[in-house]
Amino acid sequence: MSEAGEKNVRAAGEARRVGPALGQSSPRKGRASAELAADQLAAPALEARGLTLSWDQEHVVVEDINVEVASGEVCCLVGRSGCGKTTILHALAGLTTPMAGRVLLHGEDVTGRPGRVSYMLQKDLLLPSRRIIDNVCLPLVLAGAKKAEAREKAAPLFERFGLAGCELKWPSELSGGMRQRAAFLRTYLMGADVTLLDEPFSALDALTRVDVRRWFVDVVAELGLSALVITHDVDEAVSMASRIYVLAGAPSAGEPSHVAGVVEVDRVESENFELTDEYLAAKRQVMALLG
Ligand SMILES: Nc1ncnc2c1ncn2[C@@H]1O[C@H](COP(=O)(O)OP(=O)(O)OP(=O)(O)O)[C@@H](O)[C@H]1O
Ligand SMILES: [Mg+2]
Repeated sequence: MSEAGEKNVRAAGEARRVGPALGQSSPRKGRASAELAADQLAAPALEARGLTLSWDQEHVVVEDINVEVASGEVCCLVGRSGCGKTTILHALAGLTTPMAGRVLLHGEDVTGRPGRVSYMLQKDLLLPSRRIIDNVCLPLVLAGAKKAEAREKAAPLFERFGLAGCELKWPSELSGGMRQRAAFLRTYLMGADVTLLDEPFSALDALTRVDVRRWFVDVVAELGLSALVITHDVDEAVSMASRIYVLAGAPSAGEPSHVAGVVEVDRVESENFELTDEYLAAKRQVMALLG
């Protein structure tokens, strides 16, 4: 790795906060930024500290994972199939309890507490028997809202999510990119300012994927969200993230995964960032860490 390359790669656990100034984000779930205490404003939006995870309390899948997502930032977690990415997402979403370590949301310990971040699970498909509006309203209805009330809340968002006119359509009537945007709108309506997405674009064709990624980065910024996107696609990570956590290991062979390094992406303004030296430098670093 070149000297220039090395300067952007930091050892696991050395992550620091980057991205837009804190306070520019708009934390949701009744937590307007003015209401956040000073220590919460100073804290990253989401933080994993020393997470060690196992599905059976015996075989360790990932060990001592440290991840930080600043307010307003899009980060990616990259790793090969089976290395434990989804396992980490489940713990960050509070769906499982770690063997060791903590999950902090704006500095508050939310370890093992579901419902505090929005998330889209791997292959989180729309229900084929529900119209798009009712698919996206699902989190509101599950939280106790009446169907009409939920529809009223969701309807104004269809335009921003590129779905105007699709409200009463069935999932089968939408393109793959539209279905992903609808799935993300459903995730957004879970109501948290921190969102976790597990391989959200992997089922899309290459051209649609590029368009949806760009749209996603724009909409995350516009809505004041912070996002951690899980992917095995290095190009996807480099094109979207300001910071990439690279996971390495082989848990199925008894070698728990760890964060092999953190790559800072030098995002230069360019019509075609994917063709710039900065893009290629970051891609090389991620690939070197993946081994
Ligand atoms: N529910 C589960 N119960 C037991 N073991 C599991 C469970 N889910 C995953 N594992 C195991 O944990 C390890 C990591 O799996 P995980 O799904 O987190 O990998 P991944 O990086 O998300 O892979 P992929 O890219 O294929 O989605 C694998 O060895 C897998 O077999
Ligand atoms: Mg997975």
